[in-house]
Amino acid sequence: MTPSRKYTVVVVGCGKRGLHHADAFVKNGRFELVGLCDIDPERLQAAARQFGNPAASLEAGPLVRDTRPDVFCFCTLPNLRLEMIRLGVECGAQLIAYEKPIATSTNEALEIMKLVRKAGVRTVVSHQHRYGEHYQRVKAIIASGAIGRVHTVYGTATGWMMHMLTHLVDYTRWFIDNAEAEWVVGQAAGKGKFSDNHPSPDYIAGFIQYANGVRGVVESGEGAPDVPEVEAWWRKCRIGAQGTEGFAEVLTGGGWRAVTRDSGGVIAGPGNMDYAHDMPPYVQEMVGWLDDPAKVHPCNGENAYKGFEIMMAICRSAVQRGKIKLPLSPGEPELEALARTL
Ligand SMILES: NC(=O)c1ccc[n+]([C@@H]2O[C@H](COP(=O)([O-])OP(=O)(O)OC[C@H]3O[C@@H](n4cnc5c(N)ncnc54)[C@H](O)[C@@H]3O)[C@@H](O)[C@H]2O)c1
Repeated sequence: MTPSRKYTVVVVGCGKRGLHHADAFVKNGRFELVGLCDIDPERLQAAARQFGNPAASLEAGPLVRDTRPDVFCFCTLPNLRLEMIRLGVECGAQLIAYEKPIATSTNEALEIMKLVRKAGVRTVVSHQHRYGEHYQRVKAIIASGAIGRVHTVYGTATGWMMHMLTHLVDYTRWFIDNAEAEWVVGQAAGKGKFSDNHPSPDYIAGFIQYANGVRGVVESGEGAPDVPEVEAWWRKCRIGAQGTEGFAEVLTGGGWRAVTRDSGGVIAGPGNMDYAHDMPPYVQEMVGWLDDPAKVHPCNGENAYKGFEIMMAICRSAVQRGKIKLPLSPGEPELEALARTL
């Protein structure tokens, strides 16, 4: 394969995230957008016009069977995952790019992983906030050893679980080089958000024991700490690490700050989650992985599965009351079990 060849891509779901993806693919220069799909004809037409009128379809199946894209990207709401993965595998895509969370239950996620592993299809999941300059800076400070030995990582978001929790787990695991989790303990409250299109308990919290000894602490939803420095409600996330000689943390909508061994006080800098800034490098690393199988994308599906598994283990703990050991086996779908129990 010549490094300069173009990869064909189809994007299914022309809502907010589908448009971000289509835009980033087109602007990258190494992709040819050969198809768009949405069940909403107006959205589909508008997107097709915006991106130079590629093939447009109200149904994903016929579109991908006709176009057989190298990259199958879908950006639908969380209720639509396994069916789309199946389609991507069947049409022979080399890479499937999709949105978090990867599934709505452990059973579904296990099925997805089985399918893509067997077919040898690369998967990439959109935990792209990490490309923000403030996220990168916090990661660099931690990796430099400037806060000493990390013993705790933490993440909070006022947004609810199916929107936000895998983001928190993904970035905190990144801070500790994707350590494996051994067990979690969790608790949850409130059923109001189960009727949302990101069905979730209103509030959920979890403690995570990582194999390297680090403790993870996460909270998401109503009752998670406010981040008063940040105005934008969805960006009220504080994600960081504490070590033996300091701490470093990112505020999704409000820069970063740290105290390190040598900083002599608080140091801080700018940064704000910005799709236009974060999508290009996210998509460029897909090119890297397609060109060279050794350049595994940092947002690869195996990592996303580990984060999702931690989230589902927290749900199981809230239902079963106790420590949940990982890895998880199939079981009662977690959201249903939680809704029944709370
Ligand atoms: N990574 C991030 O920063 C981030 C930010 C926002 C949302 N998300 C995630 O992205 C996903 C999509 O969110 P969104 O805000 O773009 O939603 P959205 O509602 O704006 O878009 C979803 C689109 O999918 C279409 N759709 C539904 N069923 C379809 C089908 N069978 N075939 C084709 N199209 C179909 C809908 O008509 C809609 O246009 C969610 O999982 C969400 O959690 C991620």
